[in-house]
Amino acid sequence: MSHDCISQRKDVWTGVGTTLENRQIADSTWKISIEAPEFAARVASGKFVMLRLVAGDDPLLGRPFAIYDADKTSGRVEVVYAVVGKGTKRLTALRPGDQLRLWGPLGNGWGVAQREKAPKNLVLVAGGVGNAPFYLLIKEQLEAAKKDPANAPKITYVFGARSAERLSCVEEFRALGVDVRIATEDGSAGTKGFVTDALPEILPEDVDPADVQLLCCGPSPMLRALAKYSAARGFECWTSLESPMACGLGICFSCVVDWKTDDGTWDYKRTCIDGPVFDASRLRWD
Ligand SMILES: Cc1cc2nc3c(=O)[nH]c(=O)nc-3n(C[C@H](O)[C@H](O)[C@H](O)COP(=O)(O)OP(=O)(O)OC[C@H]3O[C@@H](n4cnc5c(N)ncnc54)[C@H](O)[C@@H]3O)c2cc1C
Ligand code: FES
Repeated sequence: MSHDCISQRKDVWTGVGTTLENRQIADSTWKISIEAPEFAARVASGKFVMLRLVAGDDPLLGRPFAIYDADKTSGRVEVVYAVVGKGTKRLTALRPGDQLRLWGPLGNGWGVAQREKAPKNLVLVAGGVGNAPFYLLIKEQLEAAKKDPANAPKITYVFGARSAERLSCVEEFRALGVDVRIATEDGSAGTKGFVTDALPEILPEDVDPADVQLLCCGPSPMLRALAKYSAARGFECWTSLESPMACGLGICFSCVVDWKTDDGTWDYKRTCIDGPVFDASRLRWD
């Protein structure tokens, strides 16, 4: 993505950050900490960043990642990433002091799902590295709760993975003090099965749907199952999509999804600028 395209977006910061730490934290899962104070100062939960290696043109395009954590005081930004292909493999080679290019924060973020009066039960459902956009969200929610305790939701964080080796950052989430539930497909940690199998205990039949909001991020089959489950139970459900992207700035249309308009017809939305957070009832899941 050319520098000119990015610099035309006044709300988007672009520059070079310095790797502070980059280490494996679970099977095929790494966490990178980057010093980028001007970027960190603009972050809000659910927004994302494009990362690109400074050296070389392979891969040519940046890669999108949720912002796991950002500290405005220290200028530290953290990204949790799964190693799936060329870009993420090359990311693992970065050592402290190495530079990389960032642009963002991009997208709408979880703010789009925020109700004026918080729901009684805020249920955050993550699969795999879909845990990444929730850490900062919980920190923001806990800060807001200090200022307005009467309007604070009960937060339950449900995290699913194939097996225990794939679970990352669990202790960090527990340290925040929210209710953490784990589900693994092979039963090696937490409930055996999918995240949806863990939900009936959290959301019993007699819960008032108006008191519940689900926020979800993870693989498409998980999001599809949660969208259907929420529709059947009458729960409001928002999903953060991880559609493949090229520019991240609304220019290339590589990230479009089908979106239901108010009159029930279908339109396109670009995940990078209209999302990545969408009302699940507006997306096409079949
Ligand atoms: C808004 C957003 C936030 C994201 N946040 C995170 C995050 O926090 N942590 C994280 O690990 N990943 C995240 N992703 C996905 C991440 O961008 C891709 O995994 C990454 O771009 C892969 O780059 P690569 O060069 O390693 O893989 P490539 O060489 O480009 O592809 C390797 C394989 O992965 C598949 N693939 C590539 N991108 C995606 C994708 N987006 N969805 C499904 N399959 C894909 C390809 O089809 C191919 O089979 C996010 C994506 C978006 C759009
Ligand atoms: S990634 Fe280019 S328009 Fe969304």
